[in-house]
Amino acid sequence: MRRREHYDALVIGAGAAGLMAAMTAARRGRRVLLLEHGEAPGAKILISGGGRCNFTNRETPAARFLSANPHFAKSALSRYRPADFIALVDRHGIAWHEKTLGQLFCDGSARQIVEMLLAECRQAEVTLRLGTAVQEIRHDGRFHLETAAAVVSAPALVIATGGLSIPKLGATGFAYQIAAQFGVATVRPEPALVPLCFEEPELSLMRGLSGTATEIVASRGKTGFREAMLFTHRGLSGPAILQISNYLQAGDAFTVDLLPGQDARALLLAAKRARPRIALRTALAEQLRLPQRLAQALAPEEESAPPIGETSDKTLSALAERLQRWCLTPAGTEGFAKAEVTRGGIDTAGLSSKTMEVTAVPGLHFIGEAVDVTGWLGGYNFQWAWASGFAAGQAV
Ligand code: FDA
Repeated sequence: MRRREHYDALVIGAGAAGLMAAMTAARRGRRVLLLEHGEAPGAKILISGGGRCNFTNRETPAARFLSANPHFAKSALSRYRPADFIALVDRHGIAWHEKTLGQLFCDGSARQIVEMLLAECRQAEVTLRLGTAVQEIRHDGRFHLETAAAVVSAPALVIATGGLSIPKLGATGFAYQIAAQFGVATVRPEPALVPLCFEEPELSLMRGLSGTATEIVASRGKTGFREAMLFTHRGLSGPAILQISNYLQAGDAFTVDLLPGQDARALLLAAKRARPRIALRTALAEQLRLPQRLAQALAPEEESAPPIGETSDKTLSALAERLQRWCLTPAGTEGFAKAEVTRGGIDTAGLSSKTMEVTAVPGLHFIGEAVDVTGWLGGYNFQWAWASGFAAGQAV
């Protein structure tokens, strides 16, 4: 006979959102059991932000989150703000700094964030059980979870098992299975904040430049990101590309401006006047300040090719157009194996924006990346995990 245990709330998934929900509920005096199938909590926090965890952003307006309902995230984000998480980090004496674009990172290590959340859980007396898979969930008003060692039950269940990105870190489609079990709709989960793959003819150029980075603006429609782009052996990556990937559906094109804030045509014509004897590739590298390898790839002329002074204005205009409005259609993405997050997920139409509770199933909550709310790159996804976790933790 498996032992039976009773709690006020069960939380599945000890990632960012689950740890926040568990500690918030337990601080309110709730008896909370936090279940994690992996051997360690907060695996994604540990590798985030290059090991320094970009734990929030100074500003997190709802416009920086994607969802079928762009208003859904507002309520939770307004009740748990970046300043609340910063205050928590400060209380634990964790040093941090702003890197760029409002992005806040630990000075030391992402491990400090995991330890802080675990310390909060311990202090609030959350029961944390690692290496524990949930075999079955039954519901008769209370939720009963079968694990190998026990049957645990509670009137509230919080699903914080994240999305499908990076399966080797323990990502599963568990949240979507539970949604299906309880008749909750989902928006198709897809890789997001993900490197893009290309086919010929672009691929040869990109592969040849693999490892080269340059500042660009990647844009689609009115949405644009001025950040670094990295050429890879499969196509393009880097922050600007990850950001624009959130806004692309299969087959969509986007544009790259390789000279943000500059007028390539004017610069090329000025170079033609000032240094007519230099090669085009030299003009690109020295006058337009493009990385050397990129300049060579864009103007791969022979030694005998005419210098810029003998290149027609029409040719220079066409090159300028390509430099500033390079229109690209990816063949695909590098998929969930490389995606930083999953877009789509639990349809917010079935959830309360205040409590993350399923309207049709009282007591059942979905939080964090499992939900159809996806942030930009830059600390937004953790802020959503903290805010949605706090909302559920306040409610159970
Ligand atoms: P998360 O995935 O963190 O946690 C889910 C937990 O549930 C995991 O511990 C998993 O093992 C567990 N689980 C899954 N299935 C289960 C099951 N069936 N039973 C029990 N447990 C189960 N964001 C950001 O804001 N700043 C950053 O710097 C970064 N950096 C970054 C780097 C990399 C490489 C990646 C992949 C992602 C980021 N992110 C990020 C995104 C961020 O990590 C992500 O949005 C949050 O971790 C989501 O938190 P959740 O708690 O929702 O899911």
